[in-house]
Amino acid sequence: MSEKGRHHVSSQKGVVKAWAGRFGKRTAAEVEEFSSSVPFDLRLWPYDIRGSIAHVRMLARCGIIDAEEARAILRALREIADELACGAFPVRVEHEDIHMNIEVRLREKLGKVAGKLHTARSRNDQVALDMHLWALDAFQELMGAVRELQGVLLDRAEAEGMRAVMPGYTHLQQAQPVLLAHHLLAHFWAFQRDVARLAEFRQRASMNPLGACALAGTSLPVDPEYTRRVLGLESCYANSIDAVSDRDFVCELLFACAMIMTHLSRLAEEIIIWSSYEWGFVELDDAYATGSSTMPQKKNPDVAELARAKCGRAYGNLVRLLTVLKGLPLAYNRDLQEDKEATFDSVDHTLGSLRVMSGLMRTVRFCTDRMARATQEHICATELVDYLVRKGAPFRDAHAAVARMVRRCLDEGRSWREWSEEDLKRAHPLLDLAALERLDPERTVASKRSPGGTAPERVRESLLQARRILMEWGKV
Ligand code: ARG
Repeated sequence: MSEKGRHHVSSQKGVVKAWAGRFGKRTAAEVEEFSSSVPFDLRLWPYDIRGSIAHVRMLARCGIIDAEEARAILRALREIADELACGAFPVRVEHEDIHMNIEVRLREKLGKVAGKLHTARSRNDQVALDMHLWALDAFQELMGAVRELQGVLLDRAEAEGMRAVMPGYTHLQQAQPVLLAHHLLAHFWAFQRDVARLAEFRQRASMNPLGACALAGTSLPVDPEYTRRVLGLESCYANSIDAVSDRDFVCELLFACAMIMTHLSRLAEEIIIWSSYEWGFVELDDAYATGSSTMPQKKNPDVAELARAKCGRAYGNLVRLLTVLKGLPLAYNRDLQEDKEATFDSVDHTLGSLRVMSGLMRTVRFCTDRMARATQEHICATELVDYLVRKGAPFRDAHAAVARMVRRCLDEGRSWREWSEEDLKRAHPLLDLAALERLDPERTVASKRSPGGTAPERVRESLLQARRILMEWGKV
């Protein structure tokens, strides 16, 4: 998908444009510079060539150009693709975008016949198609990268997470003990929603705008259904104006990236906190940590910090495109050219963040002893409440009684274990020494058997389900 640094982009002022016939002057150099998109849309070339090949085949099949002409154009397009692939293609800023650059090159190779490529097609449906095709490849890459991270989370949950009990948090205060596997799977399931979101977006990306031409369709006998099939797209647009105006699928892609980055940032944030000395729940692998140039003792979680920070780009790019589209009259406006950098930036950085966080999560060491030691005694207080509830106490009364007990423990610096049977009875008539046995993190975890809960048998079910989902993907 990326074309970084492979091409030399040159600039020669005042060349004759495809549309020069109607104009009495050449374009001002600063206009060329300002409006050129080729420095960033160059990477669309494989999609542009694919789209053109499908279009030329359709033109010949429908008898709009003859077979000989089509063969010549197809041959030249393949040569151009080779030039682009090896960096031998002369990219010129003054030819505005990658589409015009390819057309100009085609003319250099074929002369007049090259002009037939643009029959029954405008750059408006052409550029829309390129974005559709690019977005579909982005879909594949994003799915692969999300799946990879999910696989890592699942592997770690299976290998180490079932044996480790850790504090679960609300408000970043210890709340109830959970299995490490349960916590890791919480991230897995969030990413699973990203997968579903991407699959949704894919349907709307997989549409063929060809045949819309500039905006109104064409009087020539085109067959968009044929190009759809050749390009492997799922559907055609019902309306030619909509076909060239639509960038909803790009917004959806940007939102999917923004949401993936949100999920990544939450994972990254935990890694950052957990790797601090005070927490000590994880130790970063040396290959995924950085040092300090001044403080020799330091090991910093820069990777996770950057993943967290890159949310800013993802959100910014989404808002950027939505703002471009807001109030934009139908159909094509040059404003739409601004969809590209935002999209490329979001997808590049989301992919980069996913991949590096997969590496980080694969190699991070979970300090499970420390997790167990850090678990406060009172983390099981809710168990005591549930014990009373099971014996018939109203929940609110039970809660109030246990809350008073916690308070006393804290005030007197006492452990639950020091409470005598009488103390307990005084705290609540339904309490007894047997209740104190519940105050064990592992027992507490084992008791949370409600669907989706942290009890080992529930988490094991969840692991199996998650594994099945990942295996299904592997088969696609
Ligand atoms: N570079 C333009 C873009 O990316 C291509 C479409 C130009 N169409 C036009 N009518 N000027 O949107």
